Amino acid sequence: MLAFLTRCLAVQTSHNVYPVVGVLFVHELNKDYFQEEFLSLPRPRISYNDGITFSTNLQSFPDRPGWLRYTQRTPFQNGYLYGTPTQADVGRQVIEVNAFNRKTYETVRQKLIFSIQESVGLMLPYQVEFFIKNKDVEEVLLEEVQQDFQVGAESMWNTQRLSVVNITSALDRGGRVPLPIEGRKEG
Ligand SMILES: *[C@@H]1O[C@H](CO)[C@@H](O)[C@H](O)[C@H]1NC(C)=O
Repeated sequence: MLAFLTRCLAVQTSHNVYPVVGVLFVHELNKDYFQEEFLSLPRPRISYNDGITFSTNLQSFPDRPGWLRYTQRTPFQNGYLYGTPTQADVGRQVIEVNAFNRKTYETVRQKLIFSIQESVGLMLPYQVEFFIKNKDVEEVLLEEVQQDFQVGAESMWNTQRLSVVNITSALDRGGRVPLPIEGRKEG
């Protein structure tokens, strides 16, 4: 059991982020970045491309705030914190990230300091919802994928004033995990 006690990086890193009310926020927990952090531990163990998993919570609470969701497909991929803050979330929220190395059992911690800002001049009289069948949620969280989608919808409707308000996994909306057939996605 003792072998499971984790070595922990004494110095925590911290990072500031500035989400805006009503606007989709995405923060990538970059696996390569955390791999480097593990290598910078005192007396680093030989490790390269280890599986890394993350736990995230609001400081002094067991879980994240309701608006903030988290996903990571496998320990060999990046994790994502994402969601849309509401007016009630304006202000400072500190999220603790624990990155857990599945090979060495080490942990590094990071504090994400959220300064959630009110939106200025954001007027969204209409909202549409799309169901994208052929993607998993973390694939559409990528900035360039969102951009492509937005540009496509803008050209379809001949406007340049669209913005992405929310992205949700179909699983959070009552969808089911599809059978493991090549190419099938959750949506
Ligand atoms: C975004 O989607 C989630 C999941 O469907 C929902 O719980 C949340 O209220 C939505 N947020 C906004 C700002 O629409």
